[in-house]
Amino acid sequence: MADATPIQTINMHGVQVWVKREDLNHPIVQGNKLHKLKHNLSAAGRQQAKTLITFGGAYSNHLVATAYAAQKSGFKSIGIVRGDELKNAEDQWSDTLQQCRQFGMQLEFVSRADYRLKQLSKPVQDILSRLDSAFVIPEGGSNAAAIEGVAEWVVAMGKQLKTEPSHVFCPVGTGGTLAGVIVGCAFNQWRCQVIGISVLKGLQGVKGDINQWLSEFNQDVKFPNWQINHAFHGGGYAKLTPEMVTFGQQFNASHNIPLDKIYNVKSFYALDTLMQQGVITADDRPLIIHTGGLQGGVI
Ligand SMILES: Cc1ncc(COP(=O)(O)O)c(C=O)c1O
Repeated sequence: MADATPIQTINMHGVQVWVKREDLNHPIVQGNKLHKLKHNLSAAGRQQAKTLITFGGAYSNHLVATAYAAQKSGFKSIGIVRGDELKNAEDQWSDTLQQCRQFGMQLEFVSRADYRLKQLSKPVQDILSRLDSAFVIPEGGSNAAAIEGVAEWVVAMGKQLKTEPSHVFCPVGTGGTLAGVIVGCAFNQWRCQVIGISVLKGLQGVKGDINQWLSEFNQDVKFPNWQINHAFHGGGYAKLTPEMVTFGQQFNASHNIPLDKIYNVKSFYALDTLMQQGVITADDRPLIIHTGGLQGGVI
């Protein structure tokens, strides 16, 4: 793996904030994606899989990261895309889907009902039955292997920082990254508070998913001090309030740190707001993990 990305110190409202610049780790398999895929790729190799198959929407960072990583690692890849309306409308494909194809991914568009069933759906079962050795990576790449990779990344951050942060912030989609952050903080024996910022509206089930992954990963890892904050979804996935847009643009102008418009603008905005509300103060030393996603668009 390339050299560790920097942990930059910036001042926000008089608070010294550590920013883990994982947006700088790779242009495509960027941020958390690299860490979530790492052990999935090794597991696929050990199982002598020829094809990686995974799931995502038309704007999924995970889909394009998997397409790229598969091509680099010598696997074929198949992306199961949510919604079949783009099946015969290539001219309307997102940059993400076009990039997936450039990296050799075979795209299969399925209805939303089938997508919800994932590999239990008829179309995916049909695809799997035609392949002799496929390795299935779940939506968002979130599973126990992903948690291991993210936890290792947080342990490396611990070595880089040498001091304990008071809080660790990261955005939450499927919750796999947050689960790995929780495990990494436990491994570091940090007493910090871990705060995941949900980027989706009504993402209540994710807490259960995280608890499930944590127990699948290692029942002995105990780290109770974590929460998901649901106050900063901005109206839902890929939606933003005007305040978030202004914040993201000003933040980039002041600190020269670009934020993607789906995930990190919300987690950084949340940190900024919690400071203004006096929840995070100058006595704290928060660490915020920039999880990348810039290929999906900068605010
Ligand atoms: C840039 C970025 N940050 C954060 C996340 C959220 O990660 P997770 O799905 O593990 O919660 C994603 C995920 O899909 C992402 O692309």
